[in-house]
Amino acid sequence: MAEKSKILIIGGTGYIGQFIVRASAEAGNPTFALVRDTAPTDPQKAKILDSFENAGVTLLKGDLNNHESLVEAIKQVDVVISTVGTMQELEQLKIIAAIKEAGNVKRFLPSEFGNDADRAHAVEPANSIFAAKAQIRRTLETEGIPFTAVSSNLFAGYFIPTLGQPGASAPPRDKVVILGDGKLKVTINYLKEDIGAYTIKAVDDPRTLNKILYVRTPANIYSFNEIVSLWETKIGKKLERIYVPEEQVLKNIEESPIPLNVILSISHSVYVKGDQTNFEIEPSFGVEASQLYPDVKYTTVDEYLSQFV
Ligand SMILES: NC(=O)c1ccc[n+]([C@@H]2O[C@H](COP(=O)([O-])OP(=O)(O)OC[C@H]3O[C@@H](n4cnc5c(N)ncnc54)[C@H](OP(=O)(O)O)[C@@H]3O)[C@@H](O)[C@H]2O)c1
Repeated sequence: MAEKSKILIIGGTGYIGQFIVRASAEAGNPTFALVRDTAPTDPQKAKILDSFENAGVTLLKGDLNNHESLVEAIKQVDVVISTVGTMQELEQLKIIAAIKEAGNVKRFLPSEFGNDADRAHAVEPANSIFAAKAQIRRTLETEGIPFTAVSSNLFAGYFIPTLGQPGASAPPRDKVVILGDGKLKVTINYLKEDIGAYTIKAVDDPRTLNKILYVRTPANIYSFNEIVSLWETKIGKKLERIYVPEEQVLKNIEESPIPLNVILSISHSVYVKGDQTNFEIEPSFGVEASQLYPDVKYTTVDEYLSQFV
């Protein structure tokens, strides 16, 4: 059997990074996490690092702003996955510089994990975020660094527990605010096991080389209206549906402070423009995860939503 690739995750202590680190270790890949602080005083961060060490993950101290630490860490592995946060997209140019110097990386997965940056119709500030992710793709292409961009669409954990109602702590039971007409399809994926499993399967797969891996799990494609109907069936009650026309959504984005304007502008791209499903995945640029890896038994929105009844 071929040896499993050694994987370094940069940003492993973050929201999505934690699941990628665990998925890598669970898949049996020698797993390394670059962390800024190996002995954090924050108990939550310490707990995350403990769980990594218990899973056999090697912690490497390093920082995006310390070139030598990046090169040293990268030299120990075959694959680098970045899960650095929103607004840090262009800082990944530092990872690319270190990958070039190290010269040994078989695949780099930049921090994407959302809408396809090349096919989003976003307004600011989301537009700049997608443009920066696209710029990283272009740099990888120009530099000839083998890459896979994971377009994992919406994380269920961000949407389902509140049905996308900002500020709510549970799904609504009386009225629900829907951006746009609620008819365009979105893809909602369960992060915990599913995105991690698909991502780690892709790192050594020649079919995902220099391609976008879309996670468009068929059972998780819904319009906002359909999700509300599903929820209504589960709770046995009809909700009042309040539709926000695009003009008002755009006005709300302009008038909202950071980070609400970021969330709203991404939501505009997702629900009002339909950017997760308004194009076909062409073999020239992309592949779909559930088709490539039918053995991953992904969690459905239907199952996940039932937990909140
Ligand atoms: N599709 C969706 O619904 C969705 C939702 C959220 C995010 N995303 C995308 O997922 C990706 C990851 O976002 P996230 O929210 O998971 O990120 P996050 O929680 O903000 O985590 C950022 C990570 O980067 C690390 N980091 C920050 N500065 C660093 C530095 N100078 N050197 C080394 N490490 C550094 C942080 O380490 P520390 O622990 O030391 O701070 C942390 O591990 C982004 O591309 C984002 O756009 C998608």
